[in-house]
Amino acid sequence: MAHAPSSSSASSNVPWVEKYRPKNLDEVAAHKDIVDTIKRLARESKLPHLLLYGPPGTGKTSTVLALAQSMYGKHVKAMTLSLNASDDRGIDVVRRQIQDFASTRRLGSDDGPAFSLIILDECDAMTREAQMALRRVIEKYAKRTRFALICNQVSRLIPAIQSRCTRFRFAPLPVDCALARVKEVAAAENVELTDGGASALVKLSQGDMRRVLNTLQSAHLAHAKVDEEAVYATTGAPRPVDTERAMKSLLNASVSEAVKDIRHLQEARGISLLDLVRELLPYTMRIQGVPSGARARCLANLADTEHRISLGCAEKTQIGGVVAAFVELRDELVAVAQ
Ligand SMILES: Nc1ncnc2c1ncn2[C@@H]1O[C@H](COP(=O)(O)OP(=O)(O)O)[C@@H](O)[C@H]1O
Ligand SMILES: [Mg+2]
Repeated sequence: MAHAPSSSSASSNVPWVEKYRPKNLDEVAAHKDIVDTIKRLARESKLPHLLLYGPPGTGKTSTVLALAQSMYGKHVKAMTLSLNASDDRGIDVVRRQIQDFASTRRLGSDDGPAFSLIILDECDAMTREAQMALRRVIEKYAKRTRFALICNQVSRLIPAIQSRCTRFRFAPLPVDCALARVKEVAAAENVELTDGGASALVKLSQGDMRRVLNTLQSAHLAHAKVDEEAVYATTGAPRPVDTERAMKSLLNASVSEAVKDIRHLQEARGISLLDLVRELLPYTMRIQGVPSGARARCLANLADTEHRISLGCAEKTQIGGVVAAFVELRDELVAVAQ
């Protein structure tokens, strides 16, 4: 795969997410079925309005930009209008810009498509009224333009817009695709990335390739070698050994000791309680010999605690909530053992 030349002093400030954005459709990792379908539709000049949705960092924007590039070549600037709906939320701005763009005759190459492309990124940020207006705009200009809508949450779009587009869901990147990609970028940037480091990057990013590359770049700035330790230090996420230690306290220490241990763990390693709670979940699933009712209540309590932390409740108080979630579990474990 061809990459931009690796970091010279001039380009070393460029975020790697931009530097390694797929330049053509073949460079988009995973989502091969989607890319093939879009390619075929474009080749047969049957491109419908597109709606690409799914979690961040999965290649939605990159796919649309690469599609525009492949359709228009050197005319791409003249033939596409790219709007970010979270910047220009008001429909008036959108309508005026779209109107200005769509009502001027666009000159592409003779063998290129006859229509121009309007990209509306993050369109789930649009208000309902704006979406209603957008629906009419799409219809009015459908003859000479195609719309490519991009969003995270498709359920925030009104049905009338959804039904005017062909929908493609971008799933989080599978582990093997993300691993392969991050290793390529590391090699191109001369980063010493260990296997443990690569696995940690991918695990912590949960299929978000933007996060993988951003974390890789930050870790590389701070550490000569990007191994598992460096990745965890960069993100401040609890390492498996931290989570195991917390788990041990929660299951064995007294309530006050457990609170103290967790507080100590947080202070020593700069771990947020939210991250810790999320990491505790899989461990809680794996504890042996717990009656399922007790496990379920513990999980529900952890989920409530996570919700309260994310609402902004004080972490110090919520440590009590985490500890309390395990007290009941412990009692049941003891009862089973007797
Ligand atoms: N499928 C993918 N293949 C290769 N790189 C990807 C992919 N998805 C995301 N990336 C990387 O993450 C960055 C952000 O991707 P982007 O297409 O903007 O994501 P989205 O629009 O889905 O949030 C890209 O610049 C690229 O470096
Ligand atoms: Mg995007």
